[in-house]
Amino acid sequence: MKISVIGTGYVGLVTGACFAEIGHDVVCTDNDTAKIKTLESGGIPIYEPGLDKVIARARKEKRLSFCESTAQAVSAGDAIFICVGTPPLPNGDADLSAIDHVARIVATEAKSPKLVVEKSTVPARTGQELKRALSVYSRKTGISFQVASNPEFLREGTAVGDFLHPDRVVVGVEDEKAEKQLKEIYRPVLEKKFDCPVHSDCPKSPDPAWVVTTINSAELIKHASNSFLAMKISYANMVADLAERLGADIGEVTRAMGLDPRIGGAFLSAGLGFGGFCFPKDLQAFVFLAERSGVDFTMLKEAERINKQRIDRFVEKIREALWVIRGKQIGLLGLAFKPNTDDIRFAPAVELVHALLEEGAHIRAYDPQAMERAQEVLPQIEYAKTAYDAAVNAEALLIATEWDEFRKLDWNRIHDEMARPLILDGRNLLTPKEMKHLGFEYHSFGRRD
Ligand code: UDX
Repeated sequence: MKISVIGTGYVGLVTGACFAEIGHDVVCTDNDTAKIKTLESGGIPIYEPGLDKVIARARKEKRLSFCESTAQAVSAGDAIFICVGTPPLPNGDADLSAIDHVARIVATEAKSPKLVVEKSTVPARTGQELKRALSVYSRKTGISFQVASNPEFLREGTAVGDFLHPDRVVVGVEDEKAEKQLKEIYRPVLEKKFDCPVHSDCPKSPDPAWVVTTINSAELIKHASNSFLAMKISYANMVADLAERLGADIGEVTRAMGLDPRIGGAFLSAGLGFGGFCFPKDLQAFVFLAERSGVDFTMLKEAERINKQRIDRFVEKIREALWVIRGKQIGLLGLAFKPNTDDIRFAPAVELVHALLEEGAHIRAYDPQAMERAQEVLPQIEYAKTAYDAAVNAEALLIATEWDEFRKLDWNRIHDEMARPLILDGRNLLTPKEMKHLGFEYHSFGRRD
């Protein structure tokens, strides 16, 4: 199948590369010509484990290309996947102007009927609007379009594996023809017939569920899933606060909770809360959608409020330990919103830095991948070459992202480098008993430190 992918953010790039990996001919385009130039010259604008390998192989086998002209890319594909950004507007609603812009180009440039698939996360009923826009903008060409929704559930850091080994593929369609076309596109994934670039021996897992719904339902499934996971994290964070007061251990509590299959163990890790370009904006857009639809979804607002408070709770802990923050040298481990990515959008670490700078702290930060991006938005702090450098002469060392690399550090060496052996672990990455044993004063969330 010939596929065009519009938008080369992480969703577009992973989608395009993985479609090529499973045998389709894919052309990716973006209105950011610098990004396309980088991709054409073999560079990859984001850090996503395994993606470089997939892109290199697909390009070598001539199944994947990049093209500056959206019009050209539109003509090339039978199916067009829209993967453009839907950033939040000041009122929390999703900004759909990029989707409208793409609809105009697709409608005016297409020379034959196309299946237009929304992959970007959009509020329910966007598909209806997209269909209307395509028909209005194409009135002079008379070309017909089918619209479908195919929400992505890719996590940054594990996106390639998530794409190739999904637990479900959701397609919102209006008729059987669109469903058939999408099933053909996903067939190698559904039948597990591809050369996996992630595992030498793929873990055994049930076949992905093929879920066919209306377009409105597919759109709602995406927002409802992300909001539910965000709520789960906020719930775990409130239980962590309670565990702290009651002398219980959040790790013990959530582990046992998660063993109940009705609850499940994932997304119950307490700490600094959720960030990234999906959960915070999707939660806000879902609240906005509910309000506009006359549904009082206050529990989502609470999840958001609890999440925002995590930074205050952490700063309180830092203040309690340091007494005065002003003038103190603080080391910070982790800037990315989660491990295995260089993405710092809505990262709790960035919020934390702002809060500490306001209190007058001196910060030296280290992250294995996100420092280049961080320097653009936080030019006022120092950056260390290694985790150990961040600890030198620090009166406190903070952990804001749970990179595996931090788990394996030589903590004896860090102990000797620091002015005061004080660790505040915002991700419950380390073990209180071990840190105490190494001579650290150690604080985390929801545990008897
Ligand atoms: C999310 C969804 O998981 C994915 O399905 C969707 O398509 C895009 O949004 P992503 O934003 O990549 O993926 O990250 P995710 O792994 O979901 O984590 C989001 C945030 O929650 C991170 O900041 C992470 O640190 C935090 N988190 C996650 C917790 O604080 N506790 C947890 O238990 C899990």
